[in-house]
Amino acid sequence: MKKVRKAVFPVAGMGTRFLPATKASPKEMLPIVDKPLIQFAVEEAVAAGITDMVFVTGRSKRSIEDHFDKAYELESELEARGKSELLDFVRNMIPKNINCIYIRQAEALGLGHAVLCAKPVIGDEPFAVLLADDLLDGNPPVMKQMTDTYDYYRCSVLGVQDVPRADTRSYGIVDARAVADRVEQINAIVEKPKPEDAPSTLAVVGRYILTPRIFHHLENVKPGAGGEIQLTDGIASLLSEEQVLAYRYDGTRYDCGSKLGYLQATVVFGQRHPEVGPAFDAYLKSLGG
Ligand code: G1P
Repeated sequence: MKKVRKAVFPVAGMGTRFLPATKASPKEMLPIVDKPLIQFAVEEAVAAGITDMVFVTGRSKRSIEDHFDKAYELESELEARGKSELLDFVRNMIPKNINCIYIRQAEALGLGHAVLCAKPVIGDEPFAVLLADDLLDGNPPVMKQMTDTYDYYRCSVLGVQDVPRADTRSYGIVDARAVADRVEQINAIVEKPKPEDAPSTLAVVGRYILTPRIFHHLENVKPGAGGEIQLTDGIASLLSEEQVLAYRYDGTRYDCGSKLGYLQATVVFGQRHPEVGPAFDAYLKSLGG
């Protein structure tokens, strides 16, 4: 049976919630202290044994490609200045066996469409999807928990968590029944329902493992919520022929697509940072809040 070796990172979104910061640079490059969101997501995939990183990019996203590329000028400058520690750091940002592949999504037609753009690279294999603006802090890393779940059940697995009913409008919501600790079988899934229409409060977070059969369904779904080709609608259609599981991940999610979630992540990761953590923590205490 095939292992999950490839991950798709849809990074073509406009990031309107972070304007003006995202006018000329991608939201996925916003740093939490000193590490961009996209790097957190790639490291999570690496920790799950994934080797091929497929970025579905769009306009103004060049800096993501540069970020994971060799930086000749920076490296020779650091070398000339004898900054060997920083040089090692920049050179070894991701392991040598990792492949980065870039596909351009010419038009922002929705998350489902972005995933479909990766079809030629994914082929006939199960694959992961990670939305970098959902920063998931877990031990083991959440995608590793999910690939373990996939290895056991051999079907599509969606990362989920409970949300307040008032928030169902922001998520894909599943109707599911428990089959094991943390694992539920999905009966139905709907994109961004109104609180009064939501089948439950179990929400999909930005982590998916999908079987390649999803492409067939994405090719056939019509534009849904917001006039976009929704990944959720593709999964709803996939349910007609395959089992799909919801996995209640063990960890904490920071919604870094929102200003509040981004600030929360900055505080938590700032307090934990090896270089500035103790001083930052002391500063927060001095504020007395
Ligand atoms: C997307 C998906 C939604 C999912 C969410 C998780 O929505 O369409 O089903 O629950 O990510 O973050 P977006 O946040 O891109 O609007």
